[in-house]
Amino acid sequence: MNRAVLPRHHDSPTYPLGVAFQVVGGNRLSGTVRVPGAKNSILKLMAAALLAQGPTTLTEVPDILDVTIMAELLRRLGCEVVQDREAGTVVIDVPAAPGHQADYDLVRQMRASICVLGPLVARVGQADVALPGGDAIGSRGLDMHVNGLTRLGAEVSSEHGFLIAKAGQLHGASIWLDFPSVGATENLLMAAVLAKGTTVIDNAAREPEIIDICTMLVEMGATIDGIGSSTLEIEGVESLTPVTHRTVPDRIVAGTWAVAAVMTQGDITIDQGNSRHLEIALDKLVSSGAMVELLPEGFRVSMDRRPKAVDIVTLPYPGFATDLQPQFIALNAIGEGAAMVTENLFEARFRFVNELTRLGADVHTDGHHALVRGRPRLSGAPVEATDVRAGAGLVLAGLVAEGTTTVHEVHHIDRGYAGFVESLQGLGAQISRVD
Ligand code: EPU
Repeated sequence: MNRAVLPRHHDSPTYPLGVAFQVVGGNRLSGTVRVPGAKNSILKLMAAALLAQGPTTLTEVPDILDVTIMAELLRRLGCEVVQDREAGTVVIDVPAAPGHQADYDLVRQMRASICVLGPLVARVGQADVALPGGDAIGSRGLDMHVNGLTRLGAEVSSEHGFLIAKAGQLHGASIWLDFPSVGATENLLMAAVLAKGTTVIDNAAREPEIIDICTMLVEMGATIDGIGSSTLEIEGVESLTPVTHRTVPDRIVAGTWAVAAVMTQGDITIDQGNSRHLEIALDKLVSSGAMVELLPEGFRVSMDRRPKAVDIVTLPYPGFATDLQPQFIALNAIGEGAAMVTENLFEARFRFVNELTRLGADVHTDGHHALVRGRPRLSGAPVEATDVRAGAGLVLAGLVAEGTTTVHEVHHIDRGYAGFVESLQGLGAQISRVD
């Protein structure tokens, strides 16, 4: 058994940073790949563990860099965290009185650290979380987190680079979000479960990862109505108990493999992929000419011709996921015809287009629109991943480009995809990790 206690200091990395992936294009991908738990769920489930004293066990934990960072953050709050990478589990033993400070050195590595804000203010009465600052995919505000916590009775201020929230006892409130923000919904939910009285969050996000965290909170003893809808009603309880919870499968990883099947004219069975979480994306792949077969434990995507380019508009769930946008731009880059891709969530997500054009893609961006004219061939070149999904999109392009593509800054990819290279090798891709 590979039972690894995560490193105590962030200067002992468990992943090689600064390395690159070398891809030789041209192979058709086929076979089966298993989807682990979702990055964007596990980080929040780990934060939710703070709400109850004692050992919480999470299963289907992806072996990714972000989990390592979150584990370190929880350790600094006084928790004991043990990850079993082989078994895909993390046990978080939360003390009676956790600390309340999340430092800049961790927050700057992972913006999702902000999700400890809600649980800490609810459980400890104070949270000092370093402000994450800018982000490679655009300026991402925290106003809805702050306004919501204020409505729940917290005093929130910003001092010396920290967002500081303090509260004696939070109380229920009616909160209307300007936008169905995933992070704000999660923080407010995790604060409201221990607040006194009833909280209603309107225009809440409805992503499968939100349903996952709601499910875990209910298992812990919380009372939440409207799970999966845009109105969540939470009746606060005095305390919660630790549980064992299985993480929802990663729909973005599943979608990435689906796009890989289509681009390489391959045939991939995506074990544990939940097709209901990917309805629009799979429908787009069918429009591009792919065959999608639903299976009891996943789905299968196959393709026997050059795909047609497909229009995409990103929106909060159940709309098309922004986290699949770069992968679909890569698909359109080799598609037949032209397509318009509209990005409505993160303005800087088109930054990776400059890299894609180094491979010969024809993409013209204007504000939040990108016009992609498909080309019959791309040609390999060195490129740089600007964020996790951009990195995945560039590797997908490399899989079909002539010659060798070297994708640099792949620590971004390691943040969100467990065993990315090994999974692709297993499907028949010619890809390796190089210094
Ligand atoms: N926003 C505000 N104010 C707020 C909160 C959000 O203006 O108080 C804006 C942001 O600036 C952004 C938009 O609202 O333009 C969406 O932000 P949201 O809060 O919904 O996103 P998030 O919680 O920061 C999560 C995922 C992202 C994913 C988005 C949208 C995690 C750790 N991150 O981010 O995942 O793209 O939801 O689905 O859960 C990724 O995995 O590559 C990734 C970026």
